[in-house]
Amino acid sequence: MRNIVLIGFMGTGKTTIGRLLAKRLGRPFIDSDRKIEEEAGMSIPEIFGRFGEPHFRDLESQVIYRLSLYTSSVIATGGGAVLRPENVRNLQRHGVIIALTAAPDVIIERTCRRGGRPLLEAEDKEQRVRSLLHQRQGAYNFADLTVDTGAKSPQTAVDTIVTFLRQGGYLRGRS
Ligand code: S3P
Repeated sequence: MRNIVLIGFMGTGKTTIGRLLAKRLGRPFIDSDRKIEEEAGMSIPEIFGRFGEPHFRDLESQVIYRLSLYTSSVIATGGGAVLRPENVRNLQRHGVIIALTAAPDVIIERTCRRGGRPLLEAEDKEQRVRSLLHQRQGAYNFADLTVDTGAKSPQTAVDTIVTFLRQGGYLRGRS
């Protein structure tokens, strides 16, 4: 069965919703950022700090390629994973793509609460989020389904995704 791949900007709920969705469907959950950290033996902020963003993007592409060979898994990707066309192609190969979105204010509230995101280490985090959102406009539009997680509980978002997957014939049996 095809993978279910969650894409979307930072703070749109990919990890939370991915975990819940995997549990609901009885499938393995894989977070590409965690996989990168495991393989590199260091955290994402450390990778950015020691080797820079281009190196992180290379590691990310390698991990995405390997994850694209999996089947029947729920995969959450980092917010920038879709910036390279090769990653998009690899994710689409065995995956149905679900984009999570949220309004800028919701994303700002969620991401500015917590650290650990090197791209947001700026004097004015809010401005940084807005500028990245602007740069990435349209980057997530290739998804098969887009779900706004701003006004919904994670559980409701999962229900929406499961309904879509069932109607699209992506699930076998009951979930
Ligand atoms: C990034 C998003 C992060 C992580 C890295 C870069 C991005 O993942 O991959 O810090 O470029 O948007 P989350 O979207 O899970 O925060």
